[in-house]
Amino acid sequence: MDRLSFGRLTEVMSEHPILVTGATGKSGRRVVGQLRARGLPVRAAARGGEHIFDWTDSGTWDAALEGVRAAYIVQLDGTKLVRPFVERAVRHGVRRIVLASGRGIDNPDYAKDSGGVLEGILDSEAAVRESGLEWTISRPGWFAQNFSEGFFADAVRAGELRLPAGDGAASFVDAEDIAAVVVAALTEDQHAGRIYELSGPRAVTPTEAVATISEASGRAIRYVPLSVEGYVAELVRQGLSPADAEAFADVIEPLREGTDAYVSDGVQRALGRPPRSFAEFAKSTAEAGGWRV
Ligand SMILES: NC(=O)c1ccc[n+]([C@@H]2O[C@H](COP(=O)([O-])OP(=O)(O)OC[C@H]3O[C@@H](n4cnc5c(N)ncnc54)[C@H](OP(=O)(O)O)[C@@H]3O)[C@@H](O)[C@H]2O)c1
Repeated sequence: MDRLSFGRLTEVMSEHPILVTGATGKSGRRVVGQLRARGLPVRAAARGGEHIFDWTDSGTWDAALEGVRAAYIVQLDGTKLVRPFVERAVRHGVRRIVLASGRGIDNPDYAKDSGGVLEGILDSEAAVRESGLEWTISRPGWFAQNFSEGFFADAVRAGELRLPAGDGAASFVDAEDIAAVVVAALTEDQHAGRIYELSGPRAVTPTEAVATISEASGRAIRYVPLSVEGYVAELVRQGLSPADAEAFADVIEPLREGTDAYVSDGVQRALGRPPRSFAEFAKSTAEAGGWRV
């Protein structure tokens, strides 16, 4: 496709639904909301979403892609399904793809590849880049929303976060910022061929994160650092298989090691403004009742 036709793409977008996969998840739900706030038509796809779509059932793919010109792809971790999905998207006339990837994906020392997650995401990045479509890759670091909707949310609500993370820090990024970057890439022409590494404005330790959430929510929350062995043993006592417990411990490793503490400029580059701070995330989440029990 030549640059002229890319230039007309934004106009075309307003006439065709924008496909959002993972539409009920942490980033996808916000992408749907921000697109609709601009009055754009959206096809919100997930197994439990408005539009039923299942990565593991390719019979659901055509209906998701029908009439679509731009798509946000949140893949199913541990699979290599994005490549055939992108091939299908090309056949449907999709022109622009924004892929959810992750920071550190190009760094072999970043994290252990539990369950083939990194291998799958690398294959997805390659598939999107080789597709001939207009592509943008979003590579966020740890989501701040892990404390309110994800991995750590139940523990934070219960008042005690027990992790093998020591004093390691991460530059948690607010999923509202991730969504804003994705929406910009879906709707504006200048993000084609760009990889945006996304983080918050500075690194935050687990101790500081729970103190910030405590202050914003008015709830007493403490962080209890565990050894890796102690953490795995706790998860096994709670009913996880040793392999799954080890996989969870592997996920925490970049936090413990501080591998994800560095700051990236993707939000500034894509949006021309700095990223939201962890304190802003905590305040807005508390105001929305995010930690109410
Ligand atoms: N969390 C982090 O800190 C972090 C950091 C960097 C990168 N990432 C990457 O970001 C991606 C996750 O993004 P997210 O946090 O926005 O998602 P999420 O909150 O984990 O939500 C996952 C979404 O995928 C949908 N889904 C799950 N299984 C599906 C299936 N078989 N078919 C179709 N849809 C399915 C879910 O909806 P249904 O269950 O309704 O189908 C949901 O909408 C992952 O690739 C992850 O590796 C995460």
